[in-house]
Amino acid sequence: MQGTFYVVGVGPGDPQLMTLKAADILEKCGVWFVPSAFENGGSMALRIASGAVESEGKTILSHRFPMKQVHRDKSPDPEVQAAWQQAAATITKCLEDGQDVVFPTLGDPGIYSTGFYVCETLQNNGAKFHIEIVPGVSAIGATSAVAEMPLCLGDERLVVIPATFENDTIRELLALSDSIVFMKVHKVMARLVGLLEELGLVDNAVLVERCSLPDQKIWTNIRDAVGEEIHYFSTMVVRKK
Ligand SMILES: C[S@@+](CC[C@H](N)C(=O)[O-])C[C@H]1O[C@@H](n2cnc3c(N)ncnc32)[C@H](O)[C@@H]1O
Repeated sequence: MQGTFYVVGVGPGDPQLMTLKAADILEKCGVWFVPSAFENGGSMALRIASGAVESEGKTILSHRFPMKQVHRDKSPDPEVQAAWQQAAATITKCLEDGQDVVFPTLGDPGIYSTGFYVCETLQNNGAKFHIEIVPGVSAIGATSAVAEMPLCLGDERLVVIPATFENDTIRELLALSDSIVFMKVHKVMARLVGLLEELGLVDNAVLVERCSLPDQKIWTNIRDAVGEEIHYFSTMVVRKK
């Protein structure tokens, strides 16, 4: 019998923020297929998963996915596509051998996660494996919680975007929404702070770096973050009200 492929959200960092279902699946799967890109080649998702479930005795297959942006209206970079195909080939082999494979992914699989691209690649290759996706606590919710700032209440409108969008798009989206969550802010802090300053919203923003991890940092004055080395695991919430 063929194995099942699970994509499991492991939350933003604190293993206690992982769901019981995610932990159960990690426990029962013999093969952990872990994405890596950062943390000196290590995998943050693996670190979180093994903080809640014993990884000894598991077959850990680490796979590097290049950190290159995928744009919604362009074909992905060939290096990125090759990484998805290699991942799909390795996973296919395990599933055909009857092994269950789990792909732990940071936060929630539905939010900027490679896990969905790998599922799509498996499906586009014609595979008929059983796939299950398990939601997780996203950095979005975790940031809102530690910043003690709601994302949306009543009939408010919430927008989530990568901060790498150009200023004109951010201006338009800010005009349309009541709160906006910026992900992937680490390389564009100066520009983003400048824009929010111009729009009179800089004091409505909170930046959370390494949310839920032991060295978490909350920036209530985001001007202080300009010129600082901000970690990739950083999320900003701007709430107009
Ligand atoms: C590729 S996206 C992954 C999002 C993830 N799937 C989620 O649901 O949180 C990476 C971005 O998530 C955010 N992020 C992930 N972990 C974080 C953390 N512990 N603290 C703050 N932001 C985090 C950052 O904005 C980072 O640039």
